Amino acid sequence: MQLAVHGGTPVLPTPHRFVWPRLTDDHRSAVNSLLDRVELSYYGREGEAEAVERLWSRRLEGRHTLAVTSGTAALHSAFYALGAEPGTEVICPTNTFLATLMPLVQTGATPVLADAEDDTGNIDPKSIRDAITPRTVGIAVTHLWGHPCDMDAIMQIADEHGLWVVEDCSHAHGARYHGREVGSIGDAAAISFQSAKLVFAGQGGMFAARDRETFERAVLLGHFRVRAQQDCTTELGRYASTGFGLNYRIHPLSAALARVSTEQMDPLIASRQAQLARLTERLSRIPGLRCPTTRTDCDRGAFYGYKLRLSGEWLNVPMAALVAALQAEGLDVHKPGSAPLHTTAFFTDEEVPVFRTRPAGRRRYQAGDFPVAERVWAESLSLPTFTFADEAPLVEAYADAFEKVHANLAAL
Ligand SMILES: Cc1ncc(COP(=O)(O)O)c(C=O)c1O
Repeated sequence: MQLAVHGGTPVLPTPHRFVWPRLTDDHRSAVNSLLDRVELSYYGREGEAEAVERLWSRRLEGRHTLAVTSGTAALHSAFYALGAEPGTEVICPTNTFLATLMPLVQTGATPVLADAEDDTGNIDPKSIRDAITPRTVGIAVTHLWGHPCDMDAIMQIADEHGLWVVEDCSHAHGARYHGREVGSIGDAAAISFQSAKLVFAGQGGMFAARDRETFERAVLLGHFRVRAQQDCTTELGRYASTGFGLNYRIHPLSAALARVSTEQMDPLIASRQAQLARLTERLSRIPGLRCPTTRTDCDRGAFYGYKLRLSGEWLNVPMAALVAALQAEGLDVHKPGSAPLHTTAFFTDEEVPVFRTRPAGRRRYQAGDFPVAERVWAESLSLPTFTFADEAPLVEAYADAFEKVHANLAAL
């Protein structure tokens, strides 16, 4: 069959556009009831914000939880509260979304990058060990595309060197490592509820801390006055009336969306995993396609992002030509957006404006420094995270299109 890019009939005559999220009546009525009551801001521990915090505390083994404006705010809160500051270094994955580590810039600490594991793309514990210096105070990890990091090895390194660990769970709502939900293993966790995530708020996030003092410092960073007065029960309470400078309070409407989507998340995870298992079953029959695998004793939970790895004959075709051919068949596929961070201007430029006065706050890198992360990214292709039973025909059509393109690779 002739490829659509060469004038043939596309597998999907109407191009598919992946749409997420789907709002339910529960989302609408939760938002409408806040609007009806004109409940549009929170200053204390109350309402929908408190409700979603309780749900996540229950999931995360009783962690102290704090709803915030975004996943980025949750990460900043975590770094700030754990003591990232000028002169300290925090080891972070190069293969992650920028927000896992860019909030460190606001604390003055130096992000030190580490390479990835080939199978999961997650931060490689061996590379963490290589990056440790006397200035290292912590490690940040991302459970990339829902796959938990190798937390036993990472916590072991942290224990040996007296380091704290921040888990970025933004891709991994409900994911489990050795039976424990991610976010309950390290010292603090951050979760994004941005609208592409399985648990969505539009914009919003959750911070979670193991110990009370870390939690109280995060409260003081972004929740001055009433909330700080309620929650800061240690000697930190003396700063409650001013806080430490920011307002990270979640909007009630966002909190309501997050609360409802948290209540709905487990069945959604199950149905997403079922659709993606079928996609894997079909695609793994095609030579050269490496489908996402999940290690024994791990569960990907929300499985944010289905990244196919190409190998063999697929790599003979330029990625742009391949994407164009698949898109011409009607597929919503693209190159993943986040290149390894060590290849971005922030880390490669000789000078970055924010560091003119304190250049020690940044390490410079160049392409080639982290070869595994670069290879993982170069060989990856993003597919939609099909979730609903009514998407089953699309799953089959996507697999059909990959079969068709595979049969015609030599023509591309
Ligand atoms: C891994 C990761 N961390 C952090 C964030 C930032 O979350 P937010 O957009 O809610 O600030 C994202 C957002 O996509 C993410 O993918």
